[in-house]
Amino acid sequence: MAFLFTSDAARARVFAEVFARGQPELAFVTDPSQVDPNAVRYLLSWTLPDDIARYRNLEVLFSIGAGVDQLRLDMLPEHVRVVRMVEDGIVRMMQEYATLAVLALHRDLPGYLDQQRRGEWRARATTQAPDRRVGVLGLGLLGQAVLDRLKPFGFPLAGWSRAARSIPGVACHHGAEGLETFLAATDILVCLLPLTPETRGLLDADLFAKLPAGAALAHIGRGPQLDQDALLAALDAGHLSGAVLDVTDPEPLPPEHPLWRHPRVIVTPHIASVTQAEGAARAVLDNIRRHEAGQAMVGLVNRARGY
Ligand code: NDP
Ligand code: OXD
Repeated sequence: MAFLFTSDAARARVFAEVFARGQPELAFVTDPSQVDPNAVRYLLSWTLPDDIARYRNLEVLFSIGAGVDQLRLDMLPEHVRVVRMVEDGIVRMMQEYATLAVLALHRDLPGYLDQQRRGEWRARATTQAPDRRVGVLGLGLLGQAVLDRLKPFGFPLAGWSRAARSIPGVACHHGAEGLETFLAATDILVCLLPLTPETRGLLDADLFAKLPAGAALAHIGRGPQLDQDALLAALDAGHLSGAVLDVTDPEPLPPEHPLWRHPRVIVTPHIASVTQAEGAARAVLDNIRRHEAGQAMVGLVNRARGY
């Protein structure tokens, strides 16, 4: 029985050590040409290999990342289970990044960076935290962790999900019917949604128009959820006051793209969270034990929903 690992070499070394200690009877393989495809029960990858059909006995596909939209699940036989990455490093880094983005927008860092480029020493208008409403799209593992980390700052907090949720200290909204009310009361919108057919293109001109004038966006989910031209138009019209973007479409964002140079935009190259090898290896091993014991795996994806 084999575990085929197709991510980077640095992480492979850590995984190999953790697996050798924790499950020595499971062959850990990084080179597909060195394994009998029929022996592969588990595959860890970022994207789906083109020759996925050769692994006829595959039981579980592990994503090395938290998202699974890149895996082309329609190419995968129905019986194969798909598990997204749930590990502490991803959560901690996302809490850091989202806090950084919210505070940057709250304290108008784009405006100060623009002034710095011009050598202009001038205090800009401020809004106090209790008057700045932060709303998070997506109340899953990461959305909830981010809201929890934002609590001490004193922002009024809200969130939006598909099914109804109840989170202490957070005004929770759900479904298409809850979106408009949520947006109307959001000054800084944080997107932490998975990419699915329903969320593709969700951040468009209609959605921006439902935000209060002067609202700002921190987009940390997936690039194709955002209509970048609509964002530029809303910024140029002054309806939106700023944006922090960690994800774009395409990635990398082409050097000539206007988002790079827009004075109200901060772009980072999809680095909000990075899977940490040690925690990831332990999480995957734990899930293999659960799977073999007939228990539910942590991060099991509902393939029909796409997340
Ligand atoms: P989860 O699966 O735990 O949570 C997803 C949340 O989104 C749930 O609350 C879900 O609602 C909500 N949701 C999904 N579809 C809809 C919809 N159509 N309408 C309303 N709500 C919806 O995911 P995570 O929190 O772990 O991760 C979220 C995403 O963050 C990832 O899929 C990935 O795209 C992105 N990400 C980005 C990273 C980066 O570095 N930029 C790093 C890691 C992740 P419900 O609760 O009702 O199911
Ligand atoms: C992830 C990511 O999904 O880095 O883990 O985007």
